[in-house]
Amino acid sequence: MIAIITGATGDIGEEFVRKLIGEVDSVWAVGRSENKLSSLKDLFGEKIIPVKVDLSDKDEIFGFCRKIESEKPSIKYLVNNAGTAKLAPVSVFTLEEISDMLDINDKAATLICRACIPYMEKDSYILNIASASAFQPNPYIALYSASKAYLLSFTRSLNVENESITCTAVCPGWVDTKMLPKTNNGKDIKYPGMVTASKVVESALKDCKKGKDVSVCSFYYRYMRFLSKVTPHKTLMKFWVKGIQQYI
Ligand SMILES: NC(=O)c1ccc[n+]([C@@H]2O[C@H](COP(=O)([O-])OP(=O)(O)OC[C@H]3O[C@@H](n4cnc5c(N)ncnc54)[C@H](OP(=O)(O)O)[C@@H]3O)[C@@H](O)[C@H]2O)c1
Repeated sequence: MIAIITGATGDIGEEFVRKLIGEVDSVWAVGRSENKLSSLKDLFGEKIIPVKVDLSDKDEIFGFCRKIESEKPSIKYLVNNAGTAKLAPVSVFTLEEISDMLDINDKAATLICRACIPYMEKDSYILNIASASAFQPNPYIALYSASKAYLLSFTRSLNVENESITCTAVCPGWVDTKMLPKTNNGKDIKYPGMVTASKVVESALKDCKKGKDVSVCSFYYRYMRFLSKVTPHKTLMKFWVKGIQQYI
């Protein structure tokens, strides 16, 4: 019985490894850096099976899916956690950056879900790490936000299609990880309602075990989700842009 965790070398990914390693025989730790993967093995020991995959590369993603199909592991947890973000208007992204972000945040997660589902036991779990930015459109992180909205929608549908697997879209707000720049244009960036990676993972695991299809770990962001349902998105976007304008 195994757990597959993508982005296992990142801050939230490492927390998933820490909290799941005791529940499974081994963890397939998926990452693109051999050095970081071997540090992870040094930290957690023999249960870590490093799997080097660059999730922006279609051939590597397909290769990984074929590895799952040929090894047919018994999968208890799939955590699609790898992701990438950039704060900037769409007009400054290169074509390659756009393509990579959508491939990593959406295409890879979708293909890996498809490859894993046949090998997932009854009462197993898929956790797709989306974001609170999925709840409304967010200019200047437009691509990131739209990619996470895809993941939220996809995961909730998957949860209905697969009765024996609980599929949970994990939607944290700001999390204190290396993904978030500390400064921009010389200014310290403030992140309202920021939480730790440990808190996100703890509440995601609690929520998936309760059968929830969405996990939002703090009251602040549960309230933001409520607002996104009852407030016109044009209004919410105005507030969002006002808040982040100083950093762009
Ligand atoms: N931090 C936040 O505020 C926040 C909020 C909501 C949602 N999230 C989501 O949480 C997830 C984890 O992010 P994090 O905050 O823990 O950031 P992080 O520490 O930067 O982790 C990101 C992970 O994704 C991996 N990754 C990036 N590009 C990849 C590629 N081409 N191929 C394979 N792996 C790749 C990274 O690998 P390397 O180690 O090699 O770079 C790293 O392991 C992401 O999906 C993110 O969108 C984060």
